[in-house]
Amino acid sequence: MHKIAVFASGSGSNARKIFEHFKDHPEISVTLLLSNKPNAPVMQHAKDMRIPALSFTREDLYENGRVLDLLREFKIDFIALAGFLWLVPHSLTSAYPDRIVNIHPALLPKYGGKGMYGMNVHRAVKEAAEAVSGMTIHLVNEKYDEGKVLFQATTDLEPADAPEDIAAKVLALEHRHYPQVIQTYIENNL
Ligand code: GAR
Repeated sequence: MHKIAVFASGSGSNARKIFEHFKDHPEISVTLLLSNKPNAPVMQHAKDMRIPALSFTREDLYENGRVLDLLREFKIDFIALAGFLWLVPHSLTSAYPDRIVNIHPALLPKYGGKGMYGMNVHRAVKEAAEAVSGMTIHLVNEKYDEGKVLFQATTDLEPADAPEDIAAKVLALEHRHYPQVIQTYIENNL
């Protein structure tokens, strides 16, 4: 059985889709939700699905090794970031080489990097009057949004689209594709 940990810190809509997708999968299960925000809505999604949900601090991730200890304790062999905004440290990328994926709400390499998350991305896309946006699923390395791209999907934008409209279009693409891309990647590479 492959065991996924999801890292999330926001509303958790992508995390929820991932939990539901793998609920009855015979060989892949989501066995841990980790969040840096103990009160984030994503914690409740995990509890609803009976998935252990734990929170951690900056020290736990960057200094004292608690996050890595938890991943080992739960025998995690794959990590999916779903709305997790802290930089992933070397201790994790080296323990999980090519086994950490992230979803980003734009067509990387455009609109990536530090500070480019959530509505900041969609406002920048609007500002640039892009005709197309989309989402990117990529492997995680030690730099924000620079790992190998695994999958992208696009959506056309209308001149009248507000950043909120762009966000909704992109989020729909994320929900449609992220769980299946994770599944295919694990099946082909683990
Ligand atoms: C998603 O749109 C995801 O692409 C984005 O955060 C949102 C989380 O939504 N991630 C980033 O911006 C990472 N740089 P959710 O909590 O509803 O899944």
